[in-house]
Formats: sequence, C-alpha cells, structure tokens
Amino acid sequence: MSFDFDASIDRRNTGSNKWSKYPPGVLPMWVADMDFAAAPAIVEAITRRLQHPVFGYCSASPELRDQIVSDMATKYGWSIRAEDVVFLPGVEPGFNMAIKALLEPGQRLAIQTPIYRPILNTPRQWSLEAIDIRVDRPIAEQQGLLDRADAMLLCNPHNPTGKVYDRSDLLALAEATNDRPIISDEIHCELVYDGRRHIPIASLHPTIADRCITLMSAAKTYNIPGLKTAFAIVQNPELRQRFEGSRLGMVDSVNILGLEATLAAFRDATDWRDGVVTYLEGNRNYLASAVSERLPGVTMQLPEATYLAWLDCSGLGLDNPAEHFLNHAKAAFSAGTDFGTAYGQFIRLNFGCTRATLIEAVDRMASSL
Ligand SMILES: Cc1ncc(COP(=O)(O)O)c(C=O)c1O
Repeated sequence: MSFDFDASIDRRNTGSNKWSKYPPGVLPMWVADMDFAAAPAIVEAITRRLQHPVFGYCSASPELRDQIVSDMATKYGWSIRAEDVVFLPGVEPGFNMAIKALLEPGQRLAIQTPIYRPILNTPRQWSLEAIDIRVDRPIAEQQGLLDRADAMLLCNPHNPTGKVYDRSDLLALAEATNDRPIISDEIHCELVYDGRRHIPIASLHPTIADRCITLMSAAKTYNIPGLKTAFAIVQNPELRQRFEGSRLGMVDSVNILGLEATLAAFRDATDWRDGVVTYLEGNRNYLASAVSERLPGVTMQLPEATYLAWLDCSGLGLDNPAEHFLNHAKAAFSAGTDFGTAYGQFIRLNFGCTRATLIEAVDRMASSL
C-alpha cells in the first residue's frame, strides 16, 4: 500500500498547538509533531472503538502487552516480559516519575546538552544538580563528569541533534555510569535513517537492564502524540514498584483511544512507518543540500534519526536567529536557547511536513537573508 505524504492537510482550527500558536501566514516548524494524516489502520481502529458508546477508565489489553513484548524481540532482540511494561499518558510524565522514584533533592542528574527543554528543566524542577554531558563529545572523554552523577537521563535518539548512540557509545555510557540508574527516553526510536538500527540501552545486558527505566511510545513515529499514550519498560521488579509508586495521584491512567491506536500502530501500520521514514529521509536530504547551497552562514549536521534538524546559524551574525526568521521569513522554529543557554545561535527545524512546505520554508529563509 502506498501513502500520500505530499497531501496538504489544513490543520488550522483543529486545536493543533503547532498551527495555532502563530498567526496565519507563518509556517509553523517548531513543536515535534508531523503534518501527516495518521496511518489508515490507526484511524480504522479508533473508529471501530467509537462504535461502542461507553468510554470508561481503561487498561491496556493483554494483546497490546504481548505486541510490545514481541516488538522488542523482533525490532531489537530484547527479551522482556508482559509485566515489565507500565502504561503512561506520556514519556514526559514517565521521566519525571522516574526521577522522583530514584533521586532525592540535592543529588546529581546527568543530562545531555543541548537537550529537549522538558529534560533540560528536570534538574531545577526536582532540586537536583545538573551534570552536563555534551552530546557532541565522546562519552569516554566525559567519564569524570559521569563519575559525579547519581543517575543519567539519556535521550536516544537525541532531540534536538538527531544523534543515534551506537553500541560502543552505549557500552561506554553503561560502563561510565557504573551501577547507577539510567532513565532512557527512546521516544524517537523508530525514526532512524540510512538503515541504522536503534539499540535500547537496556537490551545490551540484563545487568544493565536491571538499573534502567526505558520510555517509549508510538506517538512520534506514528504521529499520534495528541492521543497521550506511552509506556515504560522496567525489568527490575523492585525498581518497577518504586516507579509505579511515584505516580502520586498526578500521573493518571491512559487514554482509551490511545491504547487502541498504539496497538494498531505496532501491529498494523509498519508499512506506513516504513513509508514515512523514507519520506522523512528525503526531506532531511533535501534540507541538508538546501542549507549548504542556499543558506550561507548556516550549517547543519545530518540527523541520523528524528524529524528535527539542529541548525547552527552563528555564521549569520544575528542576535536571535529564531526571532529573525519569525519576523523576516514568517517561519517559526524552536529557539536554540530552549535547549540550553549556550545555544542562542541555533534553531531547531521540524521537517515532519510535506516537501512543498519544507521547500517554502527554505525559500523564505533564503529570501530573508
Ligand atoms: C525526546 C522527547 N521526549 C519526550 C517527548 C514528549 O513525549 P510525550 O508527549 O509522550 O510526553 C518528546 C516530544 O517532543 C521528545 O522529543
């Protein structure tokens, strides 16, 4: 089956955060969702569920748990059990729950920088000291920093740079963190390019899994983040109990339609996923050549995963590149400072859109310079 990722869908007046923040006329290329229709299999599953008119509290079906167990084995060679999976309304609540379960105020949490803002904010939110691990430097060179950390919050694949940690990076990280806990946000795990394979850090060895809380979701890959459904995989029963205990009445059960959609995504939408990955890879390649040919002063490393590009605009000599492009190109990107105070000369561009929208954004950027 083929899917039309070039179809232009008007998302204004649908309650979309992405499309309602800025006035009409501004191309929104900031928050991480895509402009594509969800896979037909997902829409059908939700429509089917809507035929039953009662929408009470719900739990994940054994079928969904089994699907996740079998996906972990086939996609990553990772053997987990159905009871290791904890359903959550999002990955963000998941990493906050994990921090609450694992750390006391005053302890030290290693995070990578630059980093997705809700992760960047966690040390301050939980009165922890942040240990900054630079994503562009080898882990081995940052051993001294990791020695001081009481836990690590890993983001792999990485938002905003699109870096994929390979086996040797992950082994170095596991060694450098010794026996301390790792919270691993792997929400972008199926959006990897150039034939790469994602490796969950917990899949490396059972002794590593023993200290890991892994967070995943169908939300990014299958473009259903508004359905608020995610899950943690926690193989160590004692750790899982502590993790569950940190819900504290603030992290609720999961959305009934999100559970249907997640099952349909993993079971019935792999052809859509392969199609979207190919389309996004094309967008990424177009963007990389357009940046080098048409945006002098801007540089970009090819993201290995995600639909996010991290553009270094320091050659432009602008005070605030995101503001410049908003005002002069009518294109809205995430400001680099959202990802760390040192990154004021960067912008994050979301290329999860039609090729035509991406071309228009590049045209506008080039004209504004
Ligand atoms: C790395 C990362 N983690 C978590 C999230 C948010 O996940 P959720 O909406 O499931 O809380 C995002 C969304 O962009 C993300 O990029």
